[in-house]
Amino acid sequence: MNILQINSSARRLHEGQGSVSTLLANEVVAELVARNAGATTVVHDLAVRPVPPIDEATLGALFTPADARTQPQADRVAFNDQLIAELKSADVIVLTAPMINFGVTSQLKNWIDAVARAGATFKYGANGPEGLVTGKRVIVVSTRGGIYRDQPADSIVPYLRQTLGFLGMTDVKFVLAEGLNMGEEAAAKGLATAREEIAALFGETQTA
Ligand SMILES: Cc1cc2nc3c(=O)[nH]c(=O)nc-3n(C[C@H](O)[C@H](O)[C@H](O)COP(=O)(O)O)c2cc1C
Repeated sequence: MNILQINSSARRLHEGQGSVSTLLANEVVAELVARNAGATTVVHDLAVRPVPPIDEATLGALFTPADARTQPQADRVAFNDQLIAELKSADVIVLTAPMINFGVTSQLKNWIDAVARAGATFKYGANGPEGLVTGKRVIVVSTRGGIYRDQPADSIVPYLRQTLGFLGMTDVKFVLAEGLNMGEEAAAKGLATAREEIAALFGETQTA
């Protein structure tokens, strides 16, 4: 089993502080590794190694034929190629999606913009769009300061279902850690709920 962990918080995990979503994603990956002898793990922390945003130079690189690219253009495309290769060779993808100003972080958006490429991860045919990243299991850990589960203000769950589904990833499970900025008690409850959801993913407990 190949596991790909994409950490998309703006901050790293350090000394028990920092990114809560990375902390929980690490716990998910630890469970996967414990249950799958010989599993390999690739971790890409976008707070450490960010994906540049789509800008005019990036579009220029992507739309220039490979044999006509300058070295900086070739390097830029190669970076995205590597992200796509990591994604395609994964069996399980553990993705973090902290809520920042009611959406995903710019780090996660930039990663999505890098891996969504016509002809590589999706294509359009007679029947419309077809996702090419199939046969994957995706676990998304989404942290929030407030509480938005099943509410219209939670744009993250529908956005990721739509986007990942467009690329062919339809087996997507969400773990939500909410109320993290609502005081100690609420934060502890939010973390406990997320850990119950992680346990339920592995069949250890049942959630309602
Ligand atoms: C700039 C900023 C904006 C945020 N916006 C929201 C928000 O819109 N809704 C929310 O519930 N939490 C919001 N939060 C709280 C984060 O979701 C929370 O701190 C979470 O733990 C971030 O994930 P991380 O710990 O993995 O970085 C925001 C935090 C920051 C720093």
